[in-house]
This record gives sequence, structure tokens and C-alpha cells, in this order.
Amino acid sequence: MAASQRSPATSRDGDSDPTSIGALVVAERLSVTVGAGPTETRIVSAASFEVPAGALFAITGPSGSGKTTLLNLLAGIDRPTEGRLWFAGKSIVGESENALARWRARNVGIVFQFFHLIPTLTAAENVLLALELGRQVPRRDWRERVTTCLGAVGMQTYAHRLPSELSGGEQQRVAIARALANDPPLIVADEPTGNLDSKNSEIVFSLLRELTDRDKTVVYVTHDQDLAGRATAAIDLLDGRVVASRGPDGGLPQ
Ligand SMILES: Nc1ncnc2c1ncn2[C@@H]1O[C@H](COP(=O)(O)OP(=O)(O)OP(=O)(O)O)[C@@H](O)[C@H]1O
Ligand SMILES: [Mg+2]
Repeated sequence: MAASQRSPATSRDGDSDPTSIGALVVAERLSVTVGAGPTETRIVSAASFEVPAGALFAITGPSGSGKTTLLNLLAGIDRPTEGRLWFAGKSIVGESENALARWRARNVGIVFQFFHLIPTLTAAENVLLALELGRQVPRRDWRERVTTCLGAVGMQTYAHRLPSELSGGEQQRVAIARALANDPPLIVADEPTGNLDSKNSEIVFSLLRELTDRDKTVVYVTHDQDLAGRATAAIDLLDGRVVASRGPDGGLPQ
């Protein structure tokens, strides 16, 4: 959904959130409303939760429960109609469109269910494009950065292949390399293994988990109970509401 379809909420008080030491993301009563008048519907409803820095954080829930909508808020792709959202202690909801785009380039890497690599570009060129668009890394470092990112997912030997010359699992590994290009602290992944067989699903999930050993925070949406169970923290959605949450201490759902 285009952000312009809704009026953005504004930051109501100050920029820093003193209550959330150790959390990378703090969401407070986030809501997303679509339509107007009699067709008005809340597709995310007063969602409050924290994503600890370094977490492997799962969002689960049935189809249509609002998982993608919520992930898009965390990624700064979309804005809440109401509620507050802090990232590393800074409010991001009231930012202008341009400022939000710059924030996203620095802070968020995105992995999609269907990979979304550019089909006419090689694996290396797909990562390079993210560097060009992100404008975070000096041009002189691009070549080394492409090699490092493809190396991190074991795809350096496939650098010159087109996506059509790669399996689904290999394409998703390149997509993870692309998400890492600008070295963002947060990686969001919407059903990253949803289109993969179990072997490739395991490879891709393990790569995402390894990122949390390297100071990344990973938020992923999944339908897979096994993958959800391996998260260090999680929330479960139903009809746009957070109906259960699990923290890093392994606490039971509330
Ligand atoms: N722009 C929109 N206008 C109206 N309704 C929308 C819009 N975007 C999403 N929705 C609705 O909001 C609800 C949540 O959608 P969302 O895509 O977030 O669900 P999801 O949990 O990701 O589902 P799935 O598991 O099928 O991907 C759905 O009922 C969807 O039809
Ligand atoms: Mg979805």
C-alpha cells in the first residue's frame, strides 16, 4: 500500500524513547487503517512490542492477519495511521518521505519471498545496484563489498551468473547478499523460505540466523512452525492484533 494513501501519524513527544534500553525497535500501539467511512478497516490494530537488538524475531499469524503490513512499517516502507515507532531510540514515524528513504537505505535490508532479483543483472550486479542506490558505501569500496557480501552467503563463485542460471535457494542467498550491501543493522524478511524446498529453506534460514551473530537484527515472517520456534523472540498476530508474544528470556506467550 502506498504511504500516500494514509495520513501519517506524527511523533507526539520528543525523539527519544527512554524506556527501551536494549531494544532496536520499539512499536507502541501501531495501527493501520484502510478505506474510509463504512469501508474503513483496521488491518493492524494497536500493535505494541519490542524487537531486542540482535534478535532473531519471528512474526507469525494466519494469512491476512497483517504480517506483511506490520513488517512494512518496521522497514519504513509504509507508515502507521496511528502509533509510535522508535528505531535505536529515534522516532521514525514523523520523518518526511525523503528522510525516511534515506533512513531506510542506511538501516534496513529487505528480503522477499520471491527473491525479486533484477533478471537482466548478474548476482554481482544485483548487489552492486543496491550499493549504487543506497549511497552509503564509497565507490572505491564497491568491488570489495560485493565480494564480501556474496562471500557471506557462499555465492562468490556464482557472481557472474544471471538469476535464471541459479536455483531458488541460490537466488535467495544472493538476495540476502543484496540486503547486506549497505551494512544495515536491521534485516526484514517476508516469508524468506516460503518458496523453497526444505533443504534450501534450512540453508537460507541458517544464513539469516548467522547474521544475528554478526550484530544484525533479523525480523522474519513465517508460516512454518519449526522456523517460528527457532526465533529468539516472536509475536503472533490475529486480525491485526498481537495476540501472543515471546521474549528473549523464553517466556511463555502472554
Ligand atoms: N491496501 C490495502 N487495502 C485494503 N486492504 C488491504 C490492503 N493491504 C492489505 N490489506 C488487507 O489487510 C489484511 C492484512 O494483509 P497482509 O498482507 O498484511 O496479511 P499477511 O498476514 O501478510 O497475509 P499472508 O500470510 O497471506 O501474506 C488482509 O486482509 C489484506 O487483504
Ligand atoms: Mg504477507
